[in-house]
Amino acid sequence: MDKKGINTRMVHSGEKPCPVTGAMRMPIYQTATFVFENVEQGARRFAGEEEGYIYTRLGNPTQNALEVKMADLEGGEAAIATASGMAAVSSATMGLLKQGDHVVSSEAVYGCTHSLFKELFPRWGLGVSFVDTSDPEEIAAAIKPETRMLYLESPANPTMSLVDLEKAVALAKENGLKTVIDNTFMTPYYQRPLEKGIDLVVHSGTKYIGGHGDAVAGIIVGSKEDLDIIRGTTLKDFGGIISPFNAWLLLRGIKTLGLRMERITSNCQKVAEFLQQHPQVERVYYPGLKNHPQHELAQKQMDGFGGMLSFELKGGYSAGKKLMESLELCTLAVSLGDLDTLIQHPASMTHSVLELEDQEEAGILPGLVRLSVGIEDGEDIIKDLDDGLKLIGQA
Ligand SMILES: Cc1ncc(COP(=O)(O)O)c(C=O)c1O
Repeated sequence: MDKKGINTRMVHSGEKPCPVTGAMRMPIYQTATFVFENVEQGARRFAGEEEGYIYTRLGNPTQNALEVKMADLEGGEAAIATASGMAAVSSATMGLLKQGDHVVSSEAVYGCTHSLFKELFPRWGLGVSFVDTSDPEEIAAAIKPETRMLYLESPANPTMSLVDLEKAVALAKENGLKTVIDNTFMTPYYQRPLEKGIDLVVHSGTKYIGGHGDAVAGIIVGSKEDLDIIRGTTLKDFGGIISPFNAWLLLRGIKTLGLRMERITSNCQKVAEFLQQHPQVERVYYPGLKNHPQHELAQKQMDGFGGMLSFELKGGYSAGKKLMESLELCTLAVSLGDLDTLIQHPASMTHSVLELEDQEEAGILPGLVRLSVGIEDGEDIIKDLDDGLKLIGQA
């Protein structure tokens, strides 16, 4: 059968009506364990000689439907749904690395990814170098004989700098490195890194994939070989699997992913253009703006610019604080990819786990404010920001 378009696959892929009841929607298989017909069958399932479910930490039909859908959308052979984005990041990286290995990572990554690599990895004898992965020369210079993995975020959280995926993949291939990318900001609707030769995609499914701010979840997508290793080691033994209910919430959320991304992106472009011309605003970081230093690269490797932007105010941190506290529609909260517009301060919130010098190195300045634009009317978001910005000038 012809491969259908991505919107069709978001609705249908991985799901079939229940052959017993005819239920159109995937049931929530809210069970911890599965019954064997006899002892021999249990033994065959444990030995991997017979397909079938054993125990929900090892697999469950609702989880499986989500995994099939996400593998299809990202263009991977297989997927694993996890309890959170951090369970995806930690299970994928630690499942494929061993003591003595070294990782080259983007320096601007989500705060807890940074602390996993910087604080926890050394406890298990894993090394890491954080570099500006928007510069392929910096990646090349950081590769050591023991480097095994290149870990990327593009666009980076919260600086919105991009990695040239084709160049990064070429360098990784030359040096025999496994490539992992966090695709949370773009989702497979706008960016499919596996098509560019990246080995593994990870997501915080809490964000656009779930899309409604009501479930914490994660996803890993890649080759069957890599995912079998992760499933049989870190997933099985650390146990960070998704609950059947959260898997179901994500299955439901994905059906509207394309609609949400289109609307969010159209709002975000308008908000970025509004902020860019505002006299109180020093700088806006959004790949959809023509003056973003990597706007052309964004057009080349992404199908849309997404709903995340950061900006700095001329009045620095104190002006940003005043703005965030004065807004009525935009909600002061971390997380992103929600239906509601969320605003937060990376240096003291999502990236506060980074030491000051690591924040500076990664471009997370004290005055930087991050906005996750929602699906409200764009004019209302802009009006809220405009009202807040007017207040800054007042005593
Ligand atoms: C880009 C990115 N990756 C990973 C994570 C971690 O995801 P979770 O909170 O679902 O563990 C986050 C969380 O904010 C994120 O923004």
